[in-house]
Amino acid sequence: MNNNPIGVFDSGVGGTSIWKEIIQRLPYENTLYLADSKNAPYGEKSKQEIIDICIKNTEILIAKGAKIIVVACNTATTNAIDVLRAKYNIPFIGIEPAIKPAALASKTKSIGILATKGTLSSDLFHKTTREFASNILVIEQEGTGLVPLIEANKIESPETERLLQQYLTPMVEKNIDCLVLGCSHYPYLIPQIKKILGDKVTIIDSGFAVAKQTERVLNEHNLLNSSLELANHYLMSNTNLETLKTVTFDVSLNKKIVFTNQKAK
Ligand code: SIN
Repeated sequence: MNNNPIGVFDSGVGGTSIWKEIIQRLPYENTLYLADSKNAPYGEKSKQEIIDICIKNTEILIAKGAKIIVVACNTATTNAIDVLRAKYNIPFIGIEPAIKPAALASKTKSIGILATKGTLSSDLFHKTTREFASNILVIEQEGTGLVPLIEANKIESPETERLLQQYLTPMVEKNIDCLVLGCSHYPYLIPQIKKILGDKVTIIDSGFAVAKQTERVLNEHNLLNSSLELANHYLMSNTNLETLKTVTFDVSLNKKIVFTNQKAK
């Protein structure tokens, strides 16, 4: 059982930003990544639609032997992780917007969060903001349109730059010193975001924290792989294998990675 893979899913290629942190931290763990690009973006869907999609993804990963599942998508975590935890008998790790570390780090008492509509309207997001950021200014911005551009591998396009300018300039004017990336796709935009924000704004994403938490939970459940063999990584996409290959190019050179098409559902 312990050499069974860590299952990871997202609404496409974005969650590979989390998956990369996991395979760096846990080099002997086999992984199985499902890029559900066919249903992207999740951020514009209703809560029930997101829950149904997450159940479908979970069933695919469990059928392929996943021993734990990382929901590498903020929208899916904030809307569906409670349902998944109640329904299945394996551990789930979620990814929540890093409001707490941003609030603690902010000196200007003004922080920005860029996330999907689905995340910003979720109960979990409101609860986290109330709990950890009630005494500071939190500028919320929906990143509408960014996920489809990343899925289409248009990360460096003028259109992406135009949207980022539109979304981030008001935050600069409100003197933010921390920006929370509340969507696992957005770390792929960090070079462009930095050009707009400059180096006085700290960009906070959750990849490192999620990888650490995955290790902790595997350990707690006695699920760490004891084999010291080079791990296998299966990356599946139900539409977008080319973008998946491009965004994982830097790790695919020195890891055993198999790319496959997963039948679209
Ligand atoms: C989306 O599919 O809209 C974005 C996924 C995320 O919130 O990480």
